[in-house]
Amino acid sequence: MKDIYPPRIIKIFDTTLRDGEQSPGASMNIQEKLNLARQLARLGVDTIEAGFPIASEGDFEAVKAISQEVKGVEIAALARANEKDIYSAYLALKDAEKPKIHTFIATSDIHLKYKLKMSKEALLEKAINMVRYAKSFVEKVEFSAEDASRTDIDFLCTVLEKVIETGATTVNIPDTVGYSVPLEHYNFVKTVKERVKGIETVDLSVHCHNDLGLATANSLSAVMAGADQVECTINGIGERAGNAALEEIVMALNTRKDIYNTATNIKMTEIYRSSQLFTYITGISVQPNKAIVGKNAFAHEAGIHQDGILKEKTTYEIMTPESVGKSENELVLGKHSGKHAFKEKLKSLGYLLTEEEIEDGFLRFKALADKKKDIYDEDIDSLVGKYSHPSEKYELKYVNVVCGDTVTPLAMVKLLIDGKLQYDSACGNGPVDAVYNAIKKITGSKVTVIKYEVKSIRGTTEAQGDVSVTIEESGTDITGRSAHTDIVVASAKAYVNALNKLFVHNQNIRSSLNAVTYDKDR
Ligand code: KIV
Ligand code: ZN
Repeated sequence: MKDIYPPRIIKIFDTTLRDGEQSPGASMNIQEKLNLARQLARLGVDTIEAGFPIASEGDFEAVKAISQEVKGVEIAALARANEKDIYSAYLALKDAEKPKIHTFIATSDIHLKYKLKMSKEALLEKAINMVRYAKSFVEKVEFSAEDASRTDIDFLCTVLEKVIETGATTVNIPDTVGYSVPLEHYNFVKTVKERVKGIETVDLSVHCHNDLGLATANSLSAVMAGADQVECTINGIGERAGNAALEEIVMALNTRKDIYNTATNIKMTEIYRSSQLFTYITGISVQPNKAIVGKNAFAHEAGIHQDGILKEKTTYEIMTPESVGKSENELVLGKHSGKHAFKEKLKSLGYLLTEEEIEDGFLRFKALADKKKDIYDEDIDSLVGKYSHPSEKYELKYVNVVCGDTVTPLAMVKLLIDGKLQYDSACGNGPVDAVYNAIKKITGSKVTVIKYEVKSIRGTTEAQGDVSVTIEESGTDITGRSAHTDIVVASAKAYVNALNKLFVHNQNIRSSLNAVTYDKDR
């Protein structure tokens, strides 16, 4: 039977740059955030939550840069329910075409008693006052009742009703600790929808965490119960076990229209690219069996399945790889490709580079094309991704290793540190270990390498080796990444990339500590 109602549009609020960035190892610099924000806009999300401006100078600047450059999409900034946070969010969002202040405060008894040490009455007053304050700056204000799913439902409904009366345009009910289960979540959202006066005049949003692996299921239950907006992230990245994965929500709603009768504004063919770009920027890969974007998500291994697929795709395929932009026919460049094709490829991958950067990238592309036949999108990322790191503390200038089965591996490395050339040599268990020891000697760094991986970018021995290395310092994990046809060079560059990211991370921590000190003085 045909649907008699047109599909309801579910808004997609992407929080990869905010909640996602809270994930260990996912910190990004401003340029990286801008690149990802541009891709999110191409993907068609309704809202990009660009960051938490009060948290650090880096976050503030990133939200500001995204507000200035990424148009046509709503840009949100997070703020706790206090004037200083909200004002900082407003300043960062000032140049956005469609700004939204997202203010939050916890409403559950557990948070009220132990974290906020506040009465329910005081909290209600604060929520109302802060929504009013946010409204004095921007039209669109989202209010989140943190830990909503563990909040007394009568109190939650009162808070939501009052903030709606005050002017909130979206109310969000997060499952902050990923405690809810699908049926319960359905009933919870339905109750809010039925009991809160004025709820039909605003967007009701959900924000589910994945601690029990139920973030997607809970979000979909919420849609069934009438939620208008889902908050999610690329690859499901986020605090602890992560957030609901954007690609899973969107493809579930699309593949099972018969159940949900909803649609989104997402351009689904940009899903795979968005996932790849996030992985490229952060070095955090998805597991091969990850739904929608994992390497094996569309691979059919069993003979019986392959036989079925060859006879009729729908026997074992509920959606096509092409529908999420994982095309077998992607335009592959090679040594005969000219500058025009190279520029077009950069454009299609969402890179906005200066003429000088394109020129430099093109020369490097030609050099790579002389070494390997097919140049894939991931190769292009590795060639021009470096423009995401314009102000780097460390730059690899030279690496040379002696190794083999009869010698102790020895590496000689030269680095440019703050513009000054420094060099040293060191031995190691293998060539990469020797290079890393030399880099450590030069930089005086005390980091520990906790993970090291080499993959070939779609090929065999002639391909580029894509190295990702995770380093740890004082409980912080940072992943660096680089690719090169020589895996020792790629390893050195990946390590230097991680050290640069750690440097930026430590700078951000310092400025966020300043912010907290300032906050305490209020
Ligand atoms: O998980 C959560 O409660 C949040 C809020 C700030 C929306 O991330
Ligand atoms: Zn969250």
